[in-house]
Amino acid sequence: MKFTKSLTTLLAEANNTGEGSLKRTLGSWNLVALGIGAIIGAGLFVRTAAAAGEAAGAAVTLSFIVAAIGCAFAGLCYAEFAAMIPIAGSAYTYAYTTMGEVVAWIIGWALIMEYALGAATVSIAWSEYLNKLLGGVIPYEWTHSPFESLNGVSGIVNLPALVILLLITLVLIKGTKESASLNGIIVFVKVAIVLIFIVVGWQFIKPENHTPYLIPEGTPGHEGFFKWGWGGVLGGAAIVFFAFIGFDAVSTAAQEAKNPKKDMPIGILGSLVICTILYILFSYVLTGVTNWSEFSDPTKGKEASVAYAISTYMTGYSWLATGVTVAILAGFSSVILVMLMGQSRVFYTMSKDGLLPKIFSELHPKFSTPYKSNIILFILVGLFAGFVPGSVAGDLTSFGTLLAFVLVSAGIWILRVKSPNIERPFKTPLVPLVPILGILVCGGMIVALDPTTLKVAALWMLLGILVYFLYSRHHSLVRKEAAGKK
Ligand code: ALA
Repeated sequence: MKFTKSLTTLLAEANNTGEGSLKRTLGSWNLVALGIGAIIGAGLFVRTAAAAGEAAGAAVTLSFIVAAIGCAFAGLCYAEFAAMIPIAGSAYTYAYTTMGEVVAWIIGWALIMEYALGAATVSIAWSEYLNKLLGGVIPYEWTHSPFESLNGVSGIVNLPALVILLLITLVLIKGTKESASLNGIIVFVKVAIVLIFIVVGWQFIKPENHTPYLIPEGTPGHEGFFKWGWGGVLGGAAIVFFAFIGFDAVSTAAQEAKNPKKDMPIGILGSLVICTILYILFSYVLTGVTNWSEFSDPTKGKEASVAYAISTYMTGYSWLATGVTVAILAGFSSVILVMLMGQSRVFYTMSKDGLLPKIFSELHPKFSTPYKSNIILFILVGLFAGFVPGSVAGDLTSFGTLLAFVLVSAGIWILRVKSPNIERPFKTPLVPLVPILGILVCGGMIVALDPTTLKVAALWMLLGILVYFLYSRHHSLVRKEAAGKK
């Protein structure tokens, strides 16, 4: 028998605003800002140059378009679900009503990779940039995991990463409204810096850097299908996909939205559209100012690529290089904030369903936030951020996200067939074409991930299945109710 959660139960939960429930404080602009807060981060400021230098050249703008199309298919599906089932928990909740408890558990477990490991990855990047801004005063061993070493010095723990995680956890415990206000300020700063870079950099674009637009096949350094030419555009898309992760985090805040039916689609699709436009323009300017070949050269623009482009080619604007670094730090903080918030909301819902212990849904008596969950998450995410290299966490984040995208796309299609008549305030267009394309494009990106990532991800999923059979299955409320009815 398949155990699914009924839509009626879910909608009743969504309308419950009594004690023990999250507060509805977020409007549509808060949600768009929440999305942008989670989206613009390491992906744009670090991976754009990597994709240009390693795969796509100036055509990295096309890579952004390809990745955006994949995200748009999934985003349209997320929007239908989020407007229809405005419950915290996102993809996990949608799966529970459409594909049953086991798939819901699997997706919830995969979301831990997206949100918790995503937060860890970005806090590690935050630590790197902070040390760069401070001129490298923090010694290597206190900014790296024990698995990394340089010139015989081995890392001990990544302390700055732990500090930023702790600060953000405290903000989250204080409350959603406070978190949303802080996020709003940060989003303003980072969007402003991206816009200033685009406007100022535009005058320094050299047309020869954009010619040829695609790196010709046969250019030295070519290896494998996903480098140079059109293949390179696809390889670049897989690299910059990380930059889009986060728009779906808006759906985890559904229970805190004032008018979720209208605001959810605006939040999800609005943040995705705004970021796509900014990304295309940003990458066009970056590769126009600096030749793509410099982005794979460690002595030139391989690291801190944006600051390199400004200080090397944009004469008279060195202040902007510092501004960009500060904005990057602020930008990373808001990504961590939304990721941690998303994770605690997924845990909240899984715990309300009995699949995780009650501690994850206990709310603070005054702030109404899941503070115990926030503290446990700090410890969990901190273990990764402090003791694991960033690259390992980064690819696993992409895996978890893509798996969620595939399952959400499938879910929309299933629910249209199973329950065609439910009220859908926002409808995904062209079903089943859009969900099928979502499954194909995102499934394709999973296949393109490197084999080691896939192996670690498979182990993580196996561990999840073990936890499900040893704990969650015996505590599931849906199962208990079903047993009671017999
Ligand atoms: N999209 C987020 C970033 O770029 C995860 O950092």
